[in-house]
Amino acid sequence: MPADFPPVDAPQLALRVLMMPRDTNHQGTIFGGIILAHIDQAGYIEARRHGLHRWVTASVDRVDFKAPVEVGEVVEFRCRTIRLGRSSVTVQVVVDAQRLDGTWVRVTEAQLALVSVDATGHSIPFREPPAGDPA
Ligand SMILES: CC(C)(COP(=O)(O)OP(=O)(O)OC[C@H]1O[C@@H](n2cnc3c(N)ncnc32)[C@H](O)[C@@H]1OP(=O)(O)O)[C@@H](O)C(=O)NCCC(=O)NCCS
Repeated sequence: MPADFPPVDAPQLALRVLMMPRDTNHQGTIFGGIILAHIDQAGYIEARRHGLHRWVTASVDRVDFKAPVEVGEVVEFRCRTIRLGRSSVTVQVVVDAQRLDGTWVRVTEAQLALVSVDATGHSIPFREPPAGDPA
């Protein structure tokens, strides 16, 4: 891990969003695709901590929607890098909603892989392997 990247145990805040009526599905709760879009953005924000260049989402390994989200709730997206590869990072995203009574509920968890790419979309290493690492 590069020296300028402080390892963190707890997921760090990447996004805080107020859920609006336009974000709802036909049942009146928040559409899962809206949560996924924000998870993707949050993952990018976390990946960008490792390098201010282009990153693309390569995979979303797993998404668990644990509880619904309602209009008017504030939703926080927190991220933690759980694996550093040569040109990819794996990011855990946890999503918490503040209910209208002020309580917080874990509503979603996901894991994504993002790949550092050049302007042509080809993967590029974002860090040099540590000395002695056969890579
Ligand atoms: C992501 C992408 C650049 C990977 O291209 P590729 O030719 O497979 O890249 P490479 O074989 O050089 O692999 C590069 C790294 O990506 C990782 N990777 C590639 N595909 C992956 C996947 N599906 N899931 C997780 N990691 C993946 C590799 O393990 C490798 O990691 P490492 O360097 O840390 O060891 C390419 O598949 C792509 O452009 N996909 C579309 C991305 C996109 O548009 N996202 C938005 C969707 S709307």
